Amino acid sequence: MAKTLFDKHVDFGVRQANPFNGGPPPRLLGQSHITPTDLFFVRSHGDVPEVDADSYRLEVNGRVSRHLSLSLDEIKNNFERVAVNATLQCAGNRREELMAVQPIPHELPWGVDAISHAAWAGVRLRDVLAVAGVESEAALNLHVEFGGLDEVERLNNRFRYGGSIPLAKGLSPEVILAYEMNGEPLAPAHGFPLRTIVPRFIGARSVKWLERITVQDEPSHNYFQRKAYRLFASNARADTVNWDNGMMLGEMNVTSVICSHTEDERVGAGMIAVQGYALAGGGREIARVDVSSDGGQTWMHAELFNDTNPWAWTLWKANFELEPGRYQLVVRAMDTSANTQPQDISQVWNFKGYMNNAWHRVNVEAR
Ligand code: MTE
Repeated sequence: MAKTLFDKHVDFGVRQANPFNGGPPPRLLGQSHITPTDLFFVRSHGDVPEVDADSYRLEVNGRVSRHLSLSLDEIKNNFERVAVNATLQCAGNRREELMAVQPIPHELPWGVDAISHAAWAGVRLRDVLAVAGVESEAALNLHVEFGGLDEVERLNNRFRYGGSIPLAKGLSPEVILAYEMNGEPLAPAHGFPLRTIVPRFIGARSVKWLERITVQDEPSHNYFQRKAYRLFASNARADTVNWDNGMMLGEMNVTSVICSHTEDERVGAGMIAVQGYALAGGGREIARVDVSSDGGQTWMHAELFNDTNPWAWTLWKANFELEPGRYQLVVRAMDTSANTQPQDISQVWNFKGYMNNAWHRVNVEAR
């Protein structure tokens, strides 16, 4: 099969060539739990760095009792290999719908495609931190910062990408330093040779091209922690905002999306199968997915397809018998803490366009 930039599938939707950003066509998303690597979405803020695996080193420093400088071989050979199947979702997924409510300048208009799921393998962050002398009792109130090798320019400054998570999350067994994706070494666009995978957190914290891990008292001071990936009230604006007032994003919120149909699609009258994905944040699971064909007046429960892995998205399917006419398909999910999705998209609008989990609506015509 022919490939495009960075070995992606010919049908991969490139949203931006430089830096490289894009995602799979929705109809190919959510057909199987694992997203093939050539369809897996890419979100990069700078150019993909070329990293020489032989001279690569990972530095571990900050509030540790032993500084570490590890080669790739030392990471692979000295720590237990673990596999974690996890879904990554960008906080900017579904920004396009928010942009239709009010413009959001200078941000990428993601559809429902800034999400994918892979079989990752690598080593536990907590095993590496243990060798550096960080134990779980240290976790209270500390943070672990991840620094990437890629350079980004913002506000007239050039700096490397970074972000952090609370150390308590970093010591959870599912947080890994991954060197494999879907059975292969990480692809360059996905962070070769090493990246963090932080399941159930926004994708921004799964730092690619990882060069440094720093245990510290405060969350990262990097732009992508202090300004970007913060959630502001709907009346806040970029030119007047107090950046300290935004909520630093970590755990994802509950969401569900229709992938099988696109806006204004024409379908044959009769039985149609509506399909998509749902995702719960934090330590929660998807409890229920409701689907409607009449704009949310009546609902049916979708059939759920759960991966056995707790860090995976839930795929769902519902069949509708449609007479000729116009229909609005809608989906909403509920998680195991009974959190559900807001009905109205204007309730979740924010000037950076993050965390859109409003009911997902798709208008179709049956003929
Ligand atoms: N890590 C680095 N070093 N640079 C980046 O630009 N983008 C982040 C995160 N890690 C980013 C990064 C964001 S916003 C997301 S959503 C995920 O990587 C996307 O991972 P993927 O490109 O493998 O899908």
